[in-house]
Amino acid sequence: MADNNGDKVAQCEIESYFNDDYVYFGDVINPPRASDRQVGVICKLLSLKPSSSVLELGCGYGRITNRLAEKGAQVAGLDITPILLKKAEADAAGLGVNVEYVLGDMRSLPWRDRFDAAFLWYTTFGYFDDADNERVLREAASSLRKGGRLLIDVPNRFDSLRHKFPMCSVVKRNDDVRIDIFSNDVLSDRENLERIIVRDGRVRRTHLSYRLYGFSEYVRMLRSAGFETVAAFGKEGGAFTSDSSRLVVVAHK
Ligand SMILES: C[S@@+](CC[C@H](N)C(=O)[O-])C[C@H]1O[C@@H](n2cnc3c(N)ncnc32)[C@H](O)[C@@H]1O
Repeated sequence: MADNNGDKVAQCEIESYFNDDYVYFGDVINPPRASDRQVGVICKLLSLKPSSSVLELGCGYGRITNRLAEKGAQVAGLDITPILLKKAEADAAGLGVNVEYVLGDMRSLPWRDRFDAAFLWYTTFGYFDDADNERVLREAASSLRKGGRLLIDVPNRFDSLRHKFPMCSVVKRNDDVRIDIFSNDVLSDRENLERIIVRDGRVRRTHLSYRLYGFSEYVRMLRSAGFETVAAFGKEGGAFTSDSSRLVVVAHK
């Protein structure tokens, strides 16, 4: 019972964090050119061809999914936040591209042996406890056909630990401000993010927490989820070192 309540609180936090403010500041953080570049990296690391079938787990407002569809891929995007999916769908319609958008939970997927590739981009893995995080990997593996690839892009724990916490980042759009305060919980290997939004003269606070796994933990979890090989890359596909700001994991089923 207590576990179940904890899970509901965590899910509530996730859903209130990914809100209209997240979309509003999204283009400042990831302007169109950055999203274009990221799509190029994803295509390369997942060896995508124009006709590949691809699934984005936690697709948000579709900035990556819609671009992949523009390149000719057969794309599905799953997300748990209705407001983000609505924008993704509206933008897809505006672009005239066809994307299968699904409202759902990445811990329980409706597909089996279907996709050539799947990915979780931009710190979209680690939100849950270890059991549920591993469940996401097993579900992703099941949704891929034999030979399918999975990509996960997360902060590099080594780099993250180098910062002096609490660490602050501020983003401004017009007269509005987004303040992120990061801290590390060394006992649970989680990074916690307190977000303060000052928009239209009103203040809103949200919170997100995610587990930062090291590469060897990814290898263990992904092998146990059914993947045969697991490789590490750094930010946008470069070499992975302790200095890399990101860890990009690519696994083959
Ligand atoms: C950091 S955002 C990344 C969005 C997108 N990948 C991008 O690069 O713009 C993480 C996304 O995961 C979604 N999410 C969180 N928990 C989820 C769950 N249990 N199932 C599906 N999506 C979830 C959030 O709604 C959010 O859109």
